[in-house]
Amino acid sequence: MPNIFPPELVKRIVRRTGTPVYIYSQKKILQNLNSYKKAFSALEPLFCYAMKANSNGAVAGLLAKNGAGADVVSGGELYRALKAGFEPGKIIFSGVGKTAQEISYALRSGLLFINVESLEELRAVEAAAAGMKVKAPVSVRINPDVDPHTHKFITTGTLGTKFGVTFSEAGRLYAIVAASRHLRAVGLHFHLGSQIYSPKPYLLALSAAGKFIGSLEQKGVKLSYIDIGGGWGVKEGGGMLPPALLAGAVHRELNGLKDLRLILEPGRSLVASAGALVVKTLYRKTSGAKNYIITDGAMNDFIRPALYGARHPVTALEKRKGPDVKFDVTGPVCESGDFLAREARLPLPRRGGLLLILSAGAYGFSMSSQYNSRPRAAEVLITGPRSWRLIRRRETRRDLIRNEIQIP
Ligand SMILES: Cc1ncc(COP(=O)(O)O)c(C=O)c1O
Repeated sequence: MPNIFPPELVKRIVRRTGTPVYIYSQKKILQNLNSYKKAFSALEPLFCYAMKANSNGAVAGLLAKNGAGADVVSGGELYRALKAGFEPGKIIFSGVGKTAQEISYALRSGLLFINVESLEELRAVEAAAAGMKVKAPVSVRINPDVDPHTHKFITTGTLGTKFGVTFSEAGRLYAIVAASRHLRAVGLHFHLGSQIYSPKPYLLALSAAGKFIGSLEQKGVKLSYIDIGGGWGVKEGGGMLPPALLAGAVHRELNGLKDLRLILEPGRSLVASAGALVVKTLYRKTSGAKNYIITDGAMNDFIRPALYGARHPVTALEKRKGPDVKFDVTGPVCESGDFLAREARLPLPRRGGLLLILSAGAYGFSMSSQYNSRPRAAEVLITGPRSWRLIRRRETRRDLIRNEIQIP
């Protein structure tokens, strides 16, 4: 088990919170941010944390306090980012489907810029800005058609996905911005996908973006930011790939774009390795040749294995003697796709034994739901070798029906 989760401390936490519970290591989150800062120190980029990875205010607030900005993709995330303490001037708003209400909220908040993803959206931003008598700072999201070689659900930078616009369409959008009294072009953005294991896709996209920015300059459009998105990979069950690998390559490719400030939008790589989901073994059973460990955590708590086939290592809190047994870790949800891990190999846990699903700090709680009417899990931040804080209470049965309206 990674030493960021001392077993005695985890037991103490569970005695107070019950299971399932997400635990996050403050130390590891800060280590991840610092390794990005160190690797990119020569470029002094702005790191805009992708709130979607883990939007708990205590986690986001930690990053805000340590200088990060935020990348948000909804009015709700913008609200959370402001509440967590991110400076509005360090927040960017991405996503293909911003509503008029969300756009006005963003403009009122005074954020750094809005990443625009279509002509119609640009017109909506212009209309909102005109209504408010302001000049909206925008950046166009390019779809550079570069394959990041990752799962198809998390590929966003190839043509045929719903994200961004082609360079030729972007040329038309920047011309509209230049001619508008209510728009101001400040940047160019791309985000290629998630779990990218090589700097190469970033370099291909950056090189094409560099040429395009050169052509914009010839037309008198001068940008201030180049935003290369997030997506830097995290090894299965391990930490992020060394950010120096990405930094070195980006540094070389940015040579021609020295006047632009670099922005990165890391999500997963900052928080994944800092988190684990702790679940309790309810029952052990076999079905045909398969062994199952049925826990009180399920796909509603952690959907990544079911949705993407993501593999997360499992470890037992108490070391047990005995031969390793191969088993799937599943939960009570009534779906055959409900599993937290497949083919784990450990001595058979006892009933009541605690298991940790590792590397679950990103897209874990933030993608959780109440499916099967299961109240959402609690969240805890480990703040020191022996200290921790509850950062989200476990939901109750009342929470399940809180917003329903009874018909007499
Ligand atoms: C626009 C944008 N930026 C950043 C991210 C973060 O990606 P990751 O968590 O892989 O770093 C995402 C993820 O979907 C995204 O859509």
